Amino acid sequence: MSFAFERLRRRPDIEAPDLVAVDAADRLILDESAAVRAGLGAGELVVIGDAYGALTLAAVHEGATDVRVHQDAVTGELALAANAVAAGGAGAFRSLPLTAELVRGARVVLLRLPRSLDALADIADLIAAHAHPDVVVVAGGRVKHMTLSMNEVLRARFDRLDVSHARQKSRVLTARAPRADARDPQPRRAVVDGLTVVAYGGVFAGARLDVGTRLLLRTLPEELPGGTPDDPWIDFACGTGIVATSLALGHPDAAVHASDTSAAAVASARATVAANGVGARVSVVQDDLLTTRLDASASFIALNPPFHSGAAVTDRLAPRLFADAGRVLRPGGELWCVWNSPLEYRPVLERLVGPTRQVTRNPKFTVTVSLAR
Ligand SMILES: C[S@@+](CC[C@H](N)C(=O)[O-])C[C@H]1O[C@@H](n2cnc3c(N)ncnc32)[C@H](O)[C@@H]1O
Repeated sequence: MSFAFERLRRRPDIEAPDLVAVDAADRLILDESAAVRAGLGAGELVVIGDAYGALTLAAVHEGATDVRVHQDAVTGELALAANAVAAGGAGAFRSLPLTAELVRGARVVLLRLPRSLDALADIADLIAAHAHPDVVVVAGGRVKHMTLSMNEVLRARFDRLDVSHARQKSRVLTARAPRADARDPQPRRAVVDGLTVVAYGGVFAGARLDVGTRLLLRTLPEELPGGTPDDPWIDFACGTGIVATSLALGHPDAAVHASDTSAAAVASARATVAANGVGARVSVVQDDLLTTRLDASASFIALNPPFHSGAAVTDRLAPRLFADAGRVLRPGGELWCVWNSPLEYRPVLERLVGPTRQVTRNPKFTVTVSLAR
């Protein structure tokens, strides 16, 4: 019996008719890897970048056991777990961080190519350094999201690279023979305005300060409500943690909480916070929205909202974050937000958080402060 792909869903990530849980690239990766997956032993298959579980659960359906899985977004991990209950496969895989334990001794790696070349470099470094010398990496994506630079990143870590024909606008790169000089992934580092930024591959803006984030930081007043251990300032969707770190550096007694759905962001934020010596006052957690924060518990939240869901650009993400900020703020608490001016988020903020004042606006970015109802 073939695997029931139609059972897969994206929840708790956003669901809509044009946002799919499985696509032609997933099916091509599975088809192109079928021969090398046949006969694998327990624990020899690794899956990286599976969006909602299609690769993992179909491979389990076809016989794989003790599959090690890494997905960057915590929503992907949650969707995989829920899909495993609905479509079968629970107990046959483990979710792990992007460390050597994920890939040690692996014989086959199924990889959904990330959008970022730095993220691909980190993943390829890890596989080349720690997988079995015979490992076969079957890496695929939608042709429109693939570039020849991806081949170069893989060629720099593997001596053999084969490129499949395109099928349904998807393609697979198969890498073999990891190079002997492979090394662990190295985060990128830079000093920006006196602050050290540490970035693992794929994190928003890399080791740089985004122009919108810079505007938000410049606009924040000196005095902010909260900032105590019971009511820490929240850097919502923190990326490298540049906002949390900047707040902690500027206010030597303040407590800050930073969170992001992305494992690469959380690793980067932890490293950034540590590099600036503020780790004791800034906690960093992986979280979908602000799920781990209580209702009406916070006085101040800073947010530069996302507009990508995987490779899809969408304006449906930000309202979910605004609504959760509204839930977590106490009445009168402040959401400081920077957004792309053409997006016209002000009425959305008014509806989901409360009265919203424009603090500054230029053709590219707008900064607003919303007071929770
Ligand atoms: C535009 S970036 C901002 C990063 C950082 N605050 C900065 O200004 O450099 C948006 C961030 O939102 C995160 N994100 C996306 N969806 C999320 C969700 N559901 N919950 C938490 N964070 C999310 C992304 O991983 C990304 O790091």
